[in-house]
Amino acid sequence: MTIRLGSPLARFSAFAVLAIVLPTAILAVLGYLSLRQWKTSSELLFRQQAREMASMAAEKIEMVLVRTEDEILVSLQSLVASPDFAPAALERLLAATPLIQRLYLFDRRGAPLFPSSWMGEDAGVSVGLLAEISQGFWERGGRRHLVIRDQVILAAVLKARDGAPLLAAFSRNPEILRGEILEKTLGKQEGPAILSIIDHQDRLIYSREPLERADRIVTVTFGEALPLWRVTLYQPRGMSPQEAVHRQITLLSITFFLLLVVIMAGLFATYRLVRRETEMARLKADFVANVSHDLKTPLSLIRMFSETLEMDRVPAEAKRREYYAVIARESDRLSRLIDNVLDFSRIEGGRRKYDIAPTTVEPMIRETLDSFGYVLAQQGFKVDVSIAPDLPEVPMDADAVSQALANLLDNAIKYSGSHKVLRVEAKSRDGHLALSVVDEGIGVPRDEQQKIFEKFYRVGRSETQGRRGSGMGLALVRHVAEAHGGRVTVESQPGSGSCFTLWLPLAG
Ligand SMILES: Nc1ncnc2c1ncn2[C@@H]1O[C@H](COP(=O)(O)OP(=O)(O)O)[C@@H](O)[C@H]1O
Ligand SMILES: [Mg+2]
Repeated sequence: MTIRLGSPLARFSAFAVLAIVLPTAILAVLGYLSLRQWKTSSELLFRQQAREMASMAAEKIEMVLVRTEDEILVSLQSLVASPDFAPAALERLLAATPLIQRLYLFDRRGAPLFPSSWMGEDAGVSVGLLAEISQGFWERGGRRHLVIRDQVILAAVLKARDGAPLLAAFSRNPEILRGEILEKTLGKQEGPAILSIIDHQDRLIYSREPLERADRIVTVTFGEALPLWRVTLYQPRGMSPQEAVHRQITLLSITFFLLLVVIMAGLFATYRLVRRETEMARLKADFVANVSHDLKTPLSLIRMFSETLEMDRVPAEAKRREYYAVIARESDRLSRLIDNVLDFSRIEGGRRKYDIAPTTVEPMIRETLDSFGYVLAQQGFKVDVSIAPDLPEVPMDADAVSQALANLLDNAIKYSGSHKVLRVEAKSRDGHLALSVVDEGIGVPRDEQQKIFEKFYRVGRSETQGRRGSGMGLALVRHVAEAHGGRVTVESQPGSGSCFTLWLPLAG
């Protein structure tokens, strides 16, 4: 099918591209860009929020820890400054303060005052501790967190009763730290995010929930009170905003795609409709031209012969008879054409009525054939009629079937070419009367054998191989067949002929 510029089809295609396809494409690109933008910014926001949440948790833990440690230091200071200070008082403090794992007390020369006996790592820790404490620290006083042998030790200079400086230091009991401080601070977090604590080797120290199905989002360090640990924020898998955005994007994309499919389907349907309408408009225009031409041919013959006769220019009686016969024949043809057009318009308007009554088949066929007698003889057709002798009466509208048969005969004559052979057959087959018109003419291409029954359709457009016609004939034949509960079939080989068969049910 070719699209001519300026044709409705071309206009429609241009409209479709401009009004629908183009905006859709632009929308798709913009949508994609804004979705990407959205994804990046929501990711950024989420990370920022996660970082803030983890930092807040770290600050809170450290604050609680430092306050507890300060209280311990205050207790220690008041113990060492009391007049009856003795190591037993420190033992009591240790027993009352489970957070302290090991407690050490040294005098200014570094001699250990507490504990009275070393055990485990005590010796190593003391050496490391004293090495870390500078002259200035002894003098200035104050407190410091030190990392010695992978433990955090809080060291502070206290004042004895006589004003001499004493170095107190203690390590923390990790169990108590976890239970008393981490759990109390992190245990009541809300929301899907999981805050947990890891050590400097990424080993898990504390987590409220298992982390197998969660992703680490951010890691935040503590201040100097917890130099070896970090707070990490995990997000359960499938719950992070990225994934939510991802899901949204997938959903949106699918929706958009479906919308696109719907639009495309609509466009395609409209395109087909427009194409059909365009085709129909063209067929109708051809139809009018063809019908007018068809009517004109017999009319001009009638006029020519009647005028000749009127002027008494034909002396020979035989010639005159021939002219009368031509006029009669052409009038017949004219009325057949007009009947066709009228019937066709009745069918189109749904007003065609059929009077179905039992009919003897043979006379109907012979009468119809007779009206073609002159044409057939003149064109030199070899006609072969074979009607089964035992045919019953068939319920039919005799006029309508005769008209259908006339259309088939007319076509056979019109499309016969040089092989002028015509066969009409009537027999009973599968509960039907099979009425066939067979020719050895130009035939119908296989892929057009169904289309020729559509109204106005003609093989190769308006001038089928040079023959005029309106494309109504076979549409009419099909309508007649279907009105009788039957059908019309065609078998044809281009170049070697066609066989059109009208099937009418034998029982009504
Ligand atoms: N016997 C036939 N042999 C070859 N082609 C045929 C024959 N009968 C019909 N056709 C094809 O089918 C088309 C439709 O036929 P019809 O509806 O009778 O229209 P028309 O005869 O006015 O062209 C014809 O234009 C022709 O191309
Ligand atoms: Mg025809």
